[in-house]
Amino acid sequence: MSKQDFRDASLDLEARVAALLQQLTLDEKLDLCAGKSAWKTKPIPRLGIESFRVTDGPRGVAWHSSMGRHVAFPSGIALGASWSSELAYDYGVALGEQTRASGRHMVLGPAVNICRTPLNGRTFEYFTEDPWLNQALAVPVIKGIQSQRVAACIKHYAANNQESHRMKTSAELSERALREIYLPVFEAAVTQADVWSVMAAYNAVNGVPACENSDLLNDKLRSEWGFRGFVVSDWSAVRRTSSTEACVKGGLSLEMPGKGTRYKQKNLRQAYDQDKFSERELDRNLSGLLRVMVLTGHLDVAPIPLAPAAPSSKHWALARRIAAEGMVLLKNHAALLPLDTTRIRKLAVIGPKAAKRNCLPLWGGSSGVWPPYEITPLQGIKEKIADQFAGRIELVSQAEEADVVLLFVGLSHRPGLDSEVMDRKSLDLPAKQIQLIEASLAQNPNTVVVLINGGPISMEWAGPVPAILEAWYPGMEGGRAIADVLFGDINPSGKLPVSFPRRLQDSPAHQSSRTFPGDGAQVHYDEDVFIGYRHFDSREIEPLFAFGHGLSYTQFSYSDISLSSKVLRGDDVLLVKARICNVGSVAGAEVVQLYISDLECSVPRPLKELKGSSKVFLQPGQAAKVQFGIAYRDLAFYSEKNRDWLAEAGRFVVLLGSSSRDIRLEAEFDYSNK
Ligand code: BGC
Repeated sequence: MSKQDFRDASLDLEARVAALLQQLTLDEKLDLCAGKSAWKTKPIPRLGIESFRVTDGPRGVAWHSSMGRHVAFPSGIALGASWSSELAYDYGVALGEQTRASGRHMVLGPAVNICRTPLNGRTFEYFTEDPWLNQALAVPVIKGIQSQRVAACIKHYAANNQESHRMKTSAELSERALREIYLPVFEAAVTQADVWSVMAAYNAVNGVPACENSDLLNDKLRSEWGFRGFVVSDWSAVRRTSSTEACVKGGLSLEMPGKGTRYKQKNLRQAYDQDKFSERELDRNLSGLLRVMVLTGHLDVAPIPLAPAAPSSKHWALARRIAAEGMVLLKNHAALLPLDTTRIRKLAVIGPKAAKRNCLPLWGGSSGVWPPYEITPLQGIKEKIADQFAGRIELVSQAEEADVVLLFVGLSHRPGLDSEVMDRKSLDLPAKQIQLIEASLAQNPNTVVVLINGGPISMEWAGPVPAILEAWYPGMEGGRAIADVLFGDINPSGKLPVSFPRRLQDSPAHQSSRTFPGDGAQVHYDEDVFIGYRHFDSREIEPLFAFGHGLSYTQFSYSDISLSSKVLRGDDVLLVKARICNVGSVAGAEVVQLYISDLECSVPRPLKELKGSSKVFLQPGQAAKVQFGIAYRDLAFYSEKNRDWLAEAGRFVVLLGSSSRDIRLEAEFDYSNK
């Protein structure tokens, strides 16, 4: 092997990694285990290897890691609400392009923790409460990012579902809950998207800090799922680990940020000299990082240029599309929306979020992306009126003068609201905003409430409000997307990726302080697998808005369900087909949701579990066939007894619906393991 073989792009990946491992001295290997500074690894000057550079994400290239302005996409939950794998892939590609254009090899995203509590300060960054939807979005995002030879870093592994006590708590949960709810997205990221990096979380899982958790990092990630990339610590997460050797043995490849504590060269050297870990263990951890350096082109003789021009306008348009497709029409009494522009002459655009920008440096932690511009809702609406209704619709400042009031309320990326480090204190909107909604309704019953926020909120005020639109944090083009939806240029098709409870106590994680936020040392997942709609269904609690809910300006009919067989055997695939027709008068998209219900089982199971979805765009009067495949794993639960997935023979029902509480079609079949 020649010295520079690791640079030879004509050799295969493993040969290049082996060549480099052979070239590195022990000290150089130890150097590669910790960062040089916050956003890059140490260079190896002797071999001409430069730092591997990363940027924070997942909402775009973060300001605090790049010091530049970049495209601010809508927050993760908006993509979650689009239920669109195609959009997720396009977003991944754009994020990859943005990352490369910012001179980085890796972006710290996607962020995929499950919405266990609606108060989680980072709910806005994540996708959903459901493991199937989570992986249906994360896999294409990762594929998109990595199609640009940029590493995705899926985070935060694992059970990192709250910000309270995030550095010191231990998530105490069953193997079954881990496997069924919290791990599927990570498993799919490895087995379906070959993700190049995984970020180990701040918290411990069942008492073992994620950064030294051999069960998570070695047994599950590497051995069981076949992960071949590298594990990076969340920033300063190793502080709570027990020792340097525990991290090495546990499977942590890279400590970030800065010069390292556990992985300080001196500490690593000392532990190594005392035989506390072997070079083989070190190589196992490090080879993943070297592999990713090869995969990103970082080690090529002519490395791929890191900073081509970013295709800005294409990404701005994509940000607008995601914002529009992610918006969820929660309520639309008497079809107040879309605005009837043949009759409306005066519009009032009011509320604290109407002219507020939400994309600012450091706002929201990792999601603090600072864009070149941000269109607020007020700007978007003004632009729309100027372009399409000049001289016909005017803006007025008083609710009572207006034909319709557009009232913008919500939260912001401040600590204690939708932000990192702290969870939200309350499920409610700020009291002043509730007063404003009530005052507006008193002056004008035609008040449309538009919500700008990152997760479930309670709405005791909702009763008399005729229309509510959930716009989430819609990113730099958000104002335009909002105007498109309000004026009917875009028919909303978003569906809630999380349940909205009526009251906090209705929520599965809020049964006692033991289940949230815990005592600082431990938080107990007593609800087990009954998270989100699984909980509302089994406890027969009516949510405020159900998982999967979202209205459209048109209506869809469901008919003609058929199964390819009455019995699904062994590893076969059962095909489910149905016909969806747009029976309304405008074009629109429907997200058809497929749930499975196990009628007889030896363990308690949720009444239904999402196992498929299909988004169909239809013209008025147009119909389409949707088709899904169901296989063993879709029927299985995780058996702690067998330490494996298990589908028991017996009766199952497949349910097709427009939301988890609006099931339109059902069909039964048997599963036989013979
Ligand atoms: C967050 C990560 C982030 C990292 C780097 C941590 O506080 O949990 O999501 O990527 O900081 O900024």
